[in-house]
Amino acid sequence: MKRILTGDRTTGRLHLGHYVGSLQNRVKLQEEYDTFIILADVQALTTHFERPELINKSIYDVAIDNLSVGLNPNRITMFLQSKIGAIAELTVFYSMLVSVNSLRHNPTIKTEVTQYGYDDLSYGFLGYPVSQAADITFCSADLVPVGEDQLPHIEQARKIVRRFNDLYGNGKIIIKQPDALISNTPRLIGLDGNSKMGKSLGNAIYLSDTSEEVNLKVRSAITDKNRIKRTDPGNPEVCTVSKYHEAFNCSEYQNICEMCRSASIGCAACKTLLSKKINSLLAPFREKRAYYEERKAEVRDIILAGSNRANLIGNETMEVVKKAMSIYM
Ligand code: TRP
Repeated sequence: MKRILTGDRTTGRLHLGHYVGSLQNRVKLQEEYDTFIILADVQALTTHFERPELINKSIYDVAIDNLSVGLNPNRITMFLQSKIGAIAELTVFYSMLVSVNSLRHNPTIKTEVTQYGYDDLSYGFLGYPVSQAADITFCSADLVPVGEDQLPHIEQARKIVRRFNDLYGNGKIIIKQPDALISNTPRLIGLDGNSKMGKSLGNAIYLSDTSEEVNLKVRSAITDKNRIKRTDPGNPEVCTVSKYHEAFNCSEYQNICEMCRSASIGCAACKTLLSKKINSLLAPFREKRAYYEERKAEVRDIILAGSNRANLIGNETMEVVKKAMSIYM
């Protein structure tokens, strides 16, 4: 069975954008792959080092988000990044093999730097792709299911691995070179029409939102601004709600666009239809969530067991790595 590794930074609860972009896919992939889910609490520090208590609380939130959508704890290995010594060690070793310039030119780093408004970039933030290479390779993952924005990081990881093997492999492959498994689902836009649904943007529907919260949020979503009266024909192309129908109500999407264009449905009714759809998607997740929220100790055990398994694998990797690098006495 091939191994996949993917995961999330523990900086807050996950939302529908995460669901559409990755969680949904994870649930399918777990059937076919040995699935490793990283709770990236160390990487979370790169942007949230001033809010360690948020990161700590988010470990449970993100773990429960993952479990609530159907990741099966008996099947997957969900682990906490900070518990895996091999990741920290590999990060240090890999850091010698990466030029500062290549990190500076990493397109995702560049975008994030502008987005977060860093004028004085930390060493840790600049270097997170190196640590991510360690996340992926300590367990010899074959594939990394990610969205487009993470592609430069996978490329970086591959480069590091090639360099490592060339330098220390003596003709052998010490570290496995991972491949990206790109998800081709379009990015979900925010309730405000912003091109991205984001935790920090205040435009998200969370997997943990109640049905009342979903109703309220959908009611606040931006529609076609030129559709002023109920009798005005609308333009679904510029309507957030229509994009959500496309994502969550695929079978009725065309029909709803037609009704909008001919003004045979109003925005309020269209939003009610959408809320119902989203709430029926979320209903089974809410049940699982309620179960785990009541059983934090079980969630903790799942993460600790996953971390133990990850450590067994990581320790083996480090033996081989250190031997190859002549780090022993
Ligand atoms: N950087 C990823 C994100 O922000 C999270 C992550 C950390 C990750 N380590 C990883 C994803 C390893 C894939 C593989 O979404």
